Amino acid sequence: MSAQKLDRNIFQRLFGICATRRPARKDGWVLAEGKITVDLNAMPELVNKGSAVRLDGKGLGVSVLVVHGDDGEFHAFENRCTHGKRALDPVPGTETVQCCSVGTSTFNYDGSLIEGPAKGPLTVYKVDRAGETLSVTV
Ligand code: FES
Repeated sequence: MSAQKLDRNIFQRLFGICATRRPARKDGWVLAEGKITVDLNAMPELVNKGSAVRLDGKGLGVSVLVVHGDDGEFHAFENRCTHGKRALDPVPGTETVQCCSVGTSTFNYDGSLIEGPAKGPLTVYKVDRAGETLSVTV
């Protein structure tokens, strides 16, 4: 059985245009001492299961995808497919994340590859939650 695909058109796939956006509020997260701290009260994009934001800039060496998983937990990944380095989106309802490119490599929340041309697992970051604050170790 093949992995469910996120509904994206061929142009979005060809150009690697992801569904996941940066958070609208720039003050919703900070980077300090190797940790990203996310204030969930300032990040409405992460309210629903299956949602995600991508974080970059502010001194981060890589783009980071933060997902509010279908399992109710928060997960974080280096936002780079191990095939051609395209970015990723969650696939709501499936507990997976998927490359936004044509190859649609699909991964479990533990980073393991389910299917697609990717060369290996995703880099997964540890996420700790305390109330409405997430701490992502990068
Ligand atoms: S870049 Fe991800 S499948 Fe090709």
